[in-house]
Amino acid sequence: MSFLQWTEDLSVDNIVIDNQHRELFDLTNNLIHECKDDKCSPLIGETLSDLLKYAKKHFKEEEKLLREIKYPKLEEHEKMHIDFIFKIAMFCKDVLNGKSSVVEEMIAYLTDWLINHTSSADLDFKNYINQVA
Ligand SMILES: [Fe+2]
Ligand SMILES: [Fe+2]
Repeated sequence: MSFLQWTEDLSVDNIVIDNQHRELFDLTNNLIHECKDDKCSPLIGETLSDLLKYAKKHFKEEEKLLREIKYPKLEEHEKMHIDFIFKIAMFCKDVLNGKSSVVEEMIAYLTDWLINHTSSADLDFKNYINQVA
């Protein structure tokens, strides 16, 4: 499993949101680090809860910004965030119940979703931020 790396081309021209994206990548990397070779550290449940908490905070702040800039695809964007939280919460429940078999699938989902969402749906609102600025 490869680590996530935040690069300048993912910037949405908003330092707060960019830093939150970096933090989400870091938390995901901690998770990957804690689950090497099918062996997960006992810390994984805690890391996963931290990630879920942080993702919720980030989505809330991002959606607030999108509302402020009157982003036309806000509703669609919120739906993506809700789906992600729902899915990660399900994985989190399984992991906390000792179902370690889902970890690999969860990390694959998490990394794919974060990379795709940050590099496409989130980058899409960058133009609107620049229009307002
Ligand atoms: Fe985001
Ligand atoms: Fe987003």
